[in-house]
Amino acid sequence: GGIFIASFANAAESAIDNILSQGELKVCFEAGYIPFEMKTKDGRFIGFDIDIAKHMARSMDVKFTPVNTAWDGIIPALQTGKCDIIIGGMAITPQRNLKVMFADTYLEIGQTVLVSPKVASKIDNARALNDAKYTIASQIGTTGAQAAKKFFPKAKLDLYETSADAVLQVANGKADAFVYDLPYNALYAAQHKDTVVHFSESFTYEPLGWAIRQNDPNFLNFLNNYLVQIKKEGTYDRIYHKWFES
Ligand code: ARG
Repeated sequence: GGIFIASFANAAESAIDNILSQGELKVCFEAGYIPFEMKTKDGRFIGFDIDIAKHMARSMDVKFTPVNTAWDGIIPALQTGKCDIIIGGMAITPQRNLKVMFADTYLEIGQTVLVSPKVASKIDNARALNDAKYTIASQIGTTGAQAAKKFFPKAKLDLYETSADAVLQVANGKADAFVYDLPYNALYAAQHKDTVVHFSESFTYEPLGWAIRQNDPNFLNFLNNYLVQIKKEGTYDRIYHKWFES
């Protein structure tokens, strides 16, 4: 009986054990989500999430290992152990929360739209996009795609593997609008003043959170306390300022 009980107690291993024994924190994200995670021309990963992930790894005294993963398969990648955590601007949604655990919200955002200058000359807010004459682009598996379906059910929806491909359709003239996260859209609009117009009032509420595998209270406890610490001591503000206010 004693042997059975001992092995049963061992079954619930924390990701922490793995991280410490391997000496690395494997972080899933999908590069191409400005300014959270981007890939530089020379192949490095940079951004708000990347800086937080690096700092998090340092606080555990392990090395940071980036795991750049297609957005569509990012939760399966976590579940099958390809990474220990998703730090990828992921919104905490009920559907996702049935599959993974989320640490407390690290940033609150919402959905907005980018439209072509031609469309902007006819309408002045996102609501008017709910019309069969409009085509909307977004990224597969994102809350942007979800919001487009929910708020603009009459419009045609075209989904793309990456946000870069989706947003390009507005400049190409193949889509009238692009639905995505506010920080991304604000930055994209600032960099592409001639091809898109930003309707910057967000029409959803989305808390972003770090995702881990289920049944891991040890890791969850670590993450929530870590988040409080970096918020109170100024680390979070420093990193935030670097990517969102400069
Ligand atoms: N916040 C959106 C979502 O949760 C989009 C996130 C996309 N993130 C990325 N790293 N590509 O669905």
